[in-house]
Amino acid sequence: MSGVPVLPERIETERLVLRRWSLADADDVLAYAADPEWSRFLPVPKPYERRHAEEAVAGWVLEDWSTHPDWAIEVAGRASGGINLRLNHQQRNAEMGYALARRHWGRGYMTEAARAVIDAAFASLPDLARIQAGANARNTASIRVMEKLGMTHEGTIRHAPRGSEPHANESGVIYAILRDEWSPITG
Ligand SMILES: CC(C)(COP(=O)(O)OP(=O)(O)OC[C@H]1O[C@@H](n2cnc3c(N)ncnc32)[C@H](O)[C@@H]1OP(=O)(O)O)[C@@H](O)C(=O)NCCC(=O)NCCS
Repeated sequence: MSGVPVLPERIETERLVLRRWSLADADDVLAYAADPEWSRFLPVPKPYERRHAEEAVAGWVLEDWSTHPDWAIEVAGRASGGINLRLNHQQRNAEMGYALARRHWGRGYMTEAARAVIDAAFASLPDLARIQAGANARNTASIRVMEKLGMTHEGTIRHAPRGSEPHANESGVIYAILRDEWSPITG
């Protein structure tokens, strides 16, 4: 729709490139998504096969960028994860989701990617009031990322509707940051 501000399709950070998904990324996605430790808290098919990677990437490529921007995270030129926003322009809210290949965990990459996405979202969308994210209450790494971003724990959802076993009846946590609480990386 014309007149709706959109987020940049390519964002460069100190160590990462965030860019639109391409169908050619399916091999890279399969390489990390078939790892059961990677998908421990994610509602993805198990076992994760080539067709799942191809379907997922095709879905991300086809998404409407104005409401569902979804970036591949490139580490050293390879698609090594993804980060996305679900924008609700009417409610002035965005929900962020992310996942990174296990071989890259623990180096601050997702915090770096998420900071850049939050920065771009607040800069590009003047009406956006808040960005939230959710995680399984046992997903310590994801919760730590949200804390490092300066997000506030807003609540715990019991029997979180994750949509997939084996975590369908577990608790989920919701964190969020408001525009006024965000300190831009630049400017
Ligand atoms: C969650 C995830 C994206 C984090 O990515 P990452 O690049 O490793 O994150 P960062 O390095 O920026 O930060 C991770 C933090 O969690 C901490 N952490 C990781 N595992 C932990 C654990 N089991 N217990 C306590 N802290 C843990 C790290 O030490 C780090 O904190 P620190 O910087 O204070 O030391 C990654 O683990 C992932 O992709 N997991 C699988 C998919 C997933 O669960 N996605 C989120 C769904 S809500």
